[in-house]
Amino acid sequence: QLNQRHMINLVLFGKPGAGKGTQASFLKEKYNLKHISTGDVFRYNIKNGTELGTLAKSYIDRGELVPDEVTIKMLQEEVEKNPEASGFIFDGFPRTTAQAEALDTFLESRDMEINATIALEANDEVLIERLLERGKVSGRSDDQDEAKIRNRFDEYNEKTAPLKDFYEDMGKFHSVNGIGTIEEITERLKKVIEELD
Ligand code: AP5
Repeated sequence: QLNQRHMINLVLFGKPGAGKGTQASFLKEKYNLKHISTGDVFRYNIKNGTELGTLAKSYIDRGELVPDEVTIKMLQEEVEKNPEASGFIFDGFPRTTAQAEALDTFLESRDMEINATIALEANDEVLIERLLERGKVSGRSDDQDEAKIRNRFDEYNEKTAPLKDFYEDMGKFHSVNGIGTIEEITERLKKVIEELD
């Protein structure tokens, strides 16, 4: 049974390439959390040719956000698949105000809440370099050229960045320097998590 008193639910926030997925893989082990990356779920569906994958592919290939109603439904299903989880790391969700509001309502209906939203901060030049490098090895369609990456940044600036105020107003926004070694950044995140009430 999901029980709020023993749960930590975190949102990892940050531009494409900020290190959300990388850091989530360490934090989930350390705190025994279920990691949900909406980008990974979409890519899994694309790889397997599902209806959801077909729908999401055109948006992802262009570096645009997938429509809210599709993404919100998918996220809720991922949470519901894990009734035994002792907490979640949401990576790449929410990305719009509508998604943040839907997440709040959904969690509240399950007697759960977000404990903290932690932003990984890094400048565009560092991020572009990381993503172009990854694009060479992973073949990710949205990492292949700088124009697509810049389009993802534009989407972020327009639709996702305003969520900072949403979580700040709730007293739940924290920000961490996302430049440094992976280990250094994990330590910064752990410090924030361990200081939560
Ligand atoms: P998603 O998969 O979420 O991609 P993203 O936000 O663009 O994030 P990335 O995976 O590119 O970066 P990350 O911050 O996880 O960094 P990572 O750890 O991988 O989304 C993809 C697409 O799906 C979206 O564009 C959209 O179309 C759709 N989508 C997803 N969620 C959605 C939503 N909620 N609503 C609507 N549409 C949605 O690191 C990046 C690279 O840097 C790696 O190669 C890594 O090895 C390297 N790296 C990491 N940390 C460091 C470090 N400290 N130093 C050096 N290199 C590092």
